[in-house]
Amino acid sequence: MNSIKVHDKTFVPYLKDEELQEVVKKVALDIYEDYKDEVPVFVGVLNGVIMFFADLLRHYPGECELAFLQVSSYSGTESTGIVYKKMDLTKEVKDRHIILVEDIVDTGNTIESLFEYFKNTQRPKSVKVASLLLKPEVYKKDFKIDYVGKEIPNKFVLGYGLDYDELGRNLRDLYQLEEGKINEK
Ligand code: IMP
Repeated sequence: MNSIKVHDKTFVPYLKDEELQEVVKKVALDIYEDYKDEVPVFVGVLNGVIMFFADLLRHYPGECELAFLQVSSYSGTESTGIVYKKMDLTKEVKDRHIILVEDIVDTGNTIESLFEYFKNTQRPKSVKVASLLLKPEVYKKDFKIDYVGKEIPNKFVLGYGLDYDELGRNLRDLYQLEEGKINEK
């Protein structure tokens, strides 16, 4: 794996596809342990979740249903702190067990606001959260992330669904912003 340039920034290799698959498989099996007697609805938070979501489903050995919604809070490599809902939920989830599936939890603003949205407006039977990645140095909410694939340092990552200004989502592997460049504009 070589470094790559996306827009104005350089990204260095971080986690290869094969390593990501191991992480995803573990999350899928951990969820299955808790839901094997249920048919949960996996709710994918677009767009960043696409790769993780598809692989999670491939590794999930039980019955499940799918739904999506789209939100946005990032501008470039910074969180704006404001969560916009860009696309409505694609399925009725009243009285269902739902698992919100996120690519990455950073400040936690997105997932906290989605949790409130589901609890207050959709009335599911239960809500849990699964995230491929978590940045614990930034995450300061009390709210529990039930399933975490991997904890990572506070560095911007790219690839495997995650973008930098809309580019890089189609990379198979995960890359990290080059050292010392995180606050560069
Ligand atoms: P939060 O609301 O700060 O937790 O941010 C969550 C959302 O921000 C994620 O779903 C991503 O879309 C985006 N995000 C956070 N960190 C990164 C990153 O390192 N690379 C790419 N996108 C990120």
